[in-house]
Amino acid sequence: MSEIKEKQSSNEECISRRKLLKTAGCAGAAAILIGGLSGRAEAASVKTYPQVKIANLRNVKEWKPIRFDYPLLGRKSVLMDCGCVVEGGIGPNRSIVAYSMFCSHLGCSVDLDRDSEMLICECHQSIYNPKESGRVVEGPAPSSLPMVSLNIDSSTGDIYAIGVAGLIYGLRNNLLDGEEVT
Ligand code: FES
Repeated sequence: MSEIKEKQSSNEECISRRKLLKTAGCAGAAAILIGGLSGRAEAASVKTYPQVKIANLRNVKEWKPIRFDYPLLGRKSVLMDCGCVVEGGIGPNRSIVAYSMFCSHLGCSVDLDRDSEMLICECHQSIYNPKESGRVVEGPAPSSLPMVSLNIDSSTGDIYAIGVAGLIYGLRNNLLDGEEVT
């Protein structure tokens, strides 16, 4: 795993604050676009993403994965604190992110490798960088991991999953054909 870390060293750094500010405008536009698109999808399916409590800030430690189902039962996802500013990250350091654990290649399970600080697929070893929005850095995976949108209740520190950016592997709609998480 240290080899992977060395190989990817130029890509591993978390997004700089300057880059984050530069991309904030794009992110805002994307949020509006996603909002518009999801609005249309919701109108079609009459479904909306649930708000599900995942953890509390007190319990989130650097590179300690917290696994959960979202947006439906069995749709495995993983939350982690990358320890540095990440685009789309939340928390005091904007370092907390979450991703679907279904590989975009053939849907095998992806999980966090704490040594390399990468998300690695158990089947054909695709590697995704959680510090770069789940971007593929190696292997046959054709696209980034879907990112779970998170929100924090500032009064309690509770962290909620509130949506998913991207289609989870094998699904035609992230919200169909499954049981709701409560
Ligand atoms: S299913 Fe993950 S790399 Fe093939």
